[in-house]
Amino acid sequence: ICRGFSSSAVRNVVIKNVTIIGGGQMGAGIAQVAASTGHSVTLVDTNDDILQKAVKGIEGRLKRVVKKKFADKPEAGEEFVQKVLQNVSTSTDAASAAQSSDLVLEAIVENLKIKQDLFGQLDKVAPAHTIFASNTSSLPITDIASSTNRLDRFGGLHFFNPVPVMKLVEVIGTSATSQDTFDSLLNFSKKLGKTPVSCKDTPGFIVNRLLVPYMLEAIRLHERGHGSKEDIDIAMKLGAGYPMGPFELGDYVGLDTVKFIIDGWSAADPSNPLFAPSEMLNKLVAEGKYGKKSGEGFYKYK
Ligand code: NAI
Repeated sequence: ICRGFSSSAVRNVVIKNVTIIGGGQMGAGIAQVAASTGHSVTLVDTNDDILQKAVKGIEGRLKRVVKKKFADKPEAGEEFVQKVLQNVSTSTDAASAAQSSDLVLEAIVENLKIKQDLFGQLDKVAPAHTIFASNTSSLPITDIASSTNRLDRFGGLHFFNPVPVMKLVEVIGTSATSQDTFDSLLNFSKKLGKTPVSCKDTPGFIVNRLLVPYMLEAIRLHERGHGSKEDIDIAMKLGAGYPMGPFELGDYVGLDTVKFIIDGWSAADPSNPLFAPSEMLNKLVAEGKYGKKSGEGFYKYK
């Protein structure tokens, strides 16, 4: 009996063809890693200039990697770079790219409505087996997935910046994500050479849920006059073995991003003291002092 292509017929999708939407910092990094590990990647963004810049960036980073890795065999290195680049194509048409993809992974602007609109459209054209995933840092996967009819084939794949260097991927399952989908996402992460951890769809997943309140606590400690920024950073590096102190880390991540995350959580759960806003953080962001990228945050940069 033919019952059509129901979701229960979709089992253990092996992810080979990948569409990555958003060719910015994260999307280009994910595309690089996926292409380097033999996946066929279509990178999508809003215009060709951005896409060309993203591919140039991928090429530059690959060349730096092979310079070290293939130091004594430069031809093999060049061959590897060309092979990886052949695995990457670009498009400004997400819908047509999605039609031949096993996975559509989104790394566009952190805006719920825009992500919902994107997946809502793609849901109508993507094959039944195609898994959708978001790289969001702060939005609930459940909310993003709600614009689609493939809740069982929707999850989160949260990468870390810079993607080619950072080993971790948080794999997020909602209450509706099927075990097959979750397993496919875990396997895909391993194929990328990453180490996946399993997360629930809760604010900040694992890493940011611990890291953001920690950064806020450091700022509060400083606001109370209980330690200088420099001393707190030194203390956490030498006393806790962290590679960066909390103020250095905030400047590296971007204080606007830290504020955006904490404001979102605070709006959703205002009674949680760990999510309380910080006057110092708000003031720095209002002054355009976002950290390293703007030349000044808690510290000044050249
Ligand atoms: P970005 O600003 O560097 O890149 C976003 C790209 O998406 C831009 O090139 C933009 O042109 C494109 N874009 C925007 N709307 C689009 C649309 N409708 N269709 C196609 N392309 C579109 O941003 P970034 O830092 O790469 O972040 C992307 C996502 O990854 C966000 O959801 C963010 O929360 C998440 N993320 C960011 C991390 C970070 O450290 N920057 C870490 C982990 C997750």
